[in-house]
Amino acid sequence: MDATQIKKKKILVIYFSQTGQLYNILQSFTSPLQGKSFINVDFLEIQPKNKFPFPWRPVDFFDVFPESVYEEPCGICSISDSISNSEYDLIILGYQVWYLSPSIPVMSFLKTKDAERLLRGKPVITVIACRNMWLQAQESMKRHLLRLKANHIDNVTLVDNNPFPLNMLSILIWMLLGKKGPSLNGKIPESGISGKDTGDCRRFGKAVLDAILNEKMFCRPVLKGLGAANVNEKFILIEEIGYKSFKIWGALLRGSGRVSPGLRKLALILYFVFLMIMVFTAVPILLVVQIILRPILGKKLKAKRDYYALPSGE
Ligand SMILES: Cc1cc2nc3c(=O)[nH]c(=O)nc-3n(C[C@H](O)[C@H](O)[C@H](O)COP(=O)(O)O)c2cc1C
Repeated sequence: MDATQIKKKKILVIYFSQTGQLYNILQSFTSPLQGKSFINVDFLEIQPKNKFPFPWRPVDFFDVFPESVYEEPCGICSISDSISNSEYDLIILGYQVWYLSPSIPVMSFLKTKDAERLLRGKPVITVIACRNMWLQAQESMKRHLLRLKANHIDNVTLVDNNPFPLNMLSILIWMLLGKKGPSLNGKIPESGISGKDTGDCRRFGKAVLDAILNEKMFCRPVLKGLGAANVNEKFILIEEIGYKSFKIWGALLRGSGRVSPGLRKLALILYFVFLMIMVFTAVPILLVVQIILRPILGKKLKAKRDYYALPSGE
């Protein structure tokens, strides 16, 4: 269709990003849409009233765990009137995962009146950039979008492709020291989403552009067949079990905090020891057990994999 005949479309990109990683991904995604006379792309950065400083102090990094898992909101700065009063045709919602949950700033935004107004009845494409454990966070995100009566049409996920536990070590170094790496003379790889994967996000923007040019309504997935969300089967059970244990630890930490801040600190140290034992012993053991049980678990895991890859598919 001739571009001059197309009804102008308004797209809102909502995001939070500490290091700029997610922002760069969203810029790459939307690059084919920007500068077009018939498309308006607005960026809305979610700004917590009390900033989460980066790099993190170790105590703060672990202290946000219970509130992340129990989705306790923080204060969010109000958004500009021009965005708040606009009607958008498509929302692109970028978020990162904190402790198998949507990060506190993004989840807090989803609990505001602004989110209710902006997302209600609108098609939403979620874009996740995290280390590589996002399945449970996305389950929570789906519940939020359902509550907000948004139409979740697509999901794009980008992860750190380095193998576990190297990507775990590298993200701890990045988050706590601010050093993305590589570290230790290249023994620990650079953390985060690769430059290639970031650049390749253009293909999603291109697909959205094609949908607009062909006057397709955004009521069903437009990113199918583009490798939008690849589910790593090896981590499905680990995440499901891990999330349950996070709920128990989260409740313990919140409960101890209500008794006294000192008790919460003590419980936090215990939790840190537990987490490190889990990550560097239980997780590798579970990975081996899964390989052994593959003939029995294979079908079930495949069904779960297909489910988690929805709505865009792999
Ligand atoms: C407190 C905290 C917890 C995190 N937990 C997870 C997690 O459970 N799973 C995961 O894949 N990544 C996790 N990450 C990594 C983030 O999802 C993300 O990749 C990183 O914070 C960089 O995002 P940003 O710079 O765009 O904000 C965590 C990061 C932080 C700061």
